[in-house]
Amino acid sequence: MSKFHSLSVAKVHNETRDCVAVTFAVPPELQDSFRYQQGQHLTLRTKIGDEDVRRSYSICSAVQDGALRVAIKRTPGGAFSTWANEALQAGAVLEVMPPMGHFNVPLDAGNEKNYLAFAAGSGITPILSIVKTTLLMEPKSRFTLFYGNRASSSVIFKNELMELKDTYLQRLNIVYVMSREQQDIDLFNGRITKEKTQQFLQHWIDIADYDTAFICGPEDMMHGVSDALQEAGMPKSAIKVELFAASISKTQHKPRALDAQAAHQLTEVTVIQDGNAATFTMEKDKESILDAGLRAGLEMRYSCKGGVCSTCRCKVVDGKVDMDVNYALEDYEIARGFVLSCQSFPATDKVVIDFDQAE
Ligand SMILES: Cc1cc2nc3c(=O)[nH]c(=O)nc-3n(C[C@H](O)[C@H](O)[C@H](O)COP(=O)(O)OP(=O)(O)OC[C@H]3O[C@@H](n4cnc5c(N)ncnc54)[C@H](O)[C@@H]3O)c2cc1C
Ligand code: FES
Repeated sequence: MSKFHSLSVAKVHNETRDCVAVTFAVPPELQDSFRYQQGQHLTLRTKIGDEDVRRSYSICSAVQDGALRVAIKRTPGGAFSTWANEALQAGAVLEVMPPMGHFNVPLDAGNEKNYLAFAAGSGITPILSIVKTTLLMEPKSRFTLFYGNRASSSVIFKNELMELKDTYLQRLNIVYVMSREQQDIDLFNGRITKEKTQQFLQHWIDIADYDTAFICGPEDMMHGVSDALQEAGMPKSAIKVELFAASISKTQHKPRALDAQAAHQLTEVTVIQDGNAATFTMEKDKESILDAGLRAGLEMRYSCKGGVCSTCRCKVVDGKVDMDVNYALEDYEIARGFVLSCQSFPATDKVVIDFDQAE
């Protein structure tokens, strides 16, 4: 689970001028490790120059596709995405961690549900996987997708979405919202914001008809849409969100209000991973459990170190920790004791965290 595997790149395809879709070849012995659910993501790792760079990318293929594919949009000045768009070619080998994440709901062929999705830019990646998988797996369910872009030239998966629409004429509704290209219906011009969502709710959709909403895009869009849906009566528990790290600035850890002696007290931390337990000591408030563990020589899994990707998710099974920021875990996960080790600081003299507990 926590291990990287070497996967070779089977295909690199230019989706738009600044986005590549990358398909991996998964050898038979790794098929089980790389089985995924719709909406999950992979952590990719490579060396760029001398730097070990790891980033998360959502799987865009449907569970039924039998292909492991991600789409990487170039972030201006971004290390991994620029490298992937400029230099990555078929035949290259990347280190890839098995799929992770909880951006989905359980599917059932007997369901007759009505789903809603909001995506902006590369946020379409997990949404495409979710829409396609759901329509294939639940023949009586329907999907409405609002997809925000600057202009039609920057629409990722334009052809694939068109084909999906042709296949599911009655069950899939796609509304394109463009911020720099004028469309006939004024409602569909601009960016997807809280106000825009409120207008959709007034003129286009009746929230009472929908069971679940998925939102993926920049942080302000995600909050705006989620707020509008909740104010219109959709329960928070029916709204699933996924945030891409690129829009988040890294926060600096603010030392807690511990007295100097307490802050420097040593804590004993035990990390359970892949059935093994390793123990190290660290100062309570100096660095995160992840950083202290890595410094102690442990192989702990992580990607963004910013509280966004949930790669470092684990369960506190003894003691207590304080978390700085959390953009990844839902309330029910925190209630069950899950934390992000990259954001966790020991609050007791002994802490045991377990990476093997998934639920
Ligand atoms: C769960 C999850 C799923 C994701 N899925 C996708 C996906 O499907 N597709 C996708 O394209 N992306 C996805 N992302 C985002 C992706 O992981 C990367 O964050 C993104 O590709 C940018 O990485 P990068 O290495 O190119 O940029 P980085 O090098 O991380 O830089 C990001 C930004 O910070 C700026 N920056 C870098 N260093 C500095 C500095 N020292 N000072 C100031 N600014 C700086 C850069 O100019 C750039 O604008 C996902 C993220 C998460 C958490
Ligand atoms: S490493 Fe991404 S949330 Fe901790």
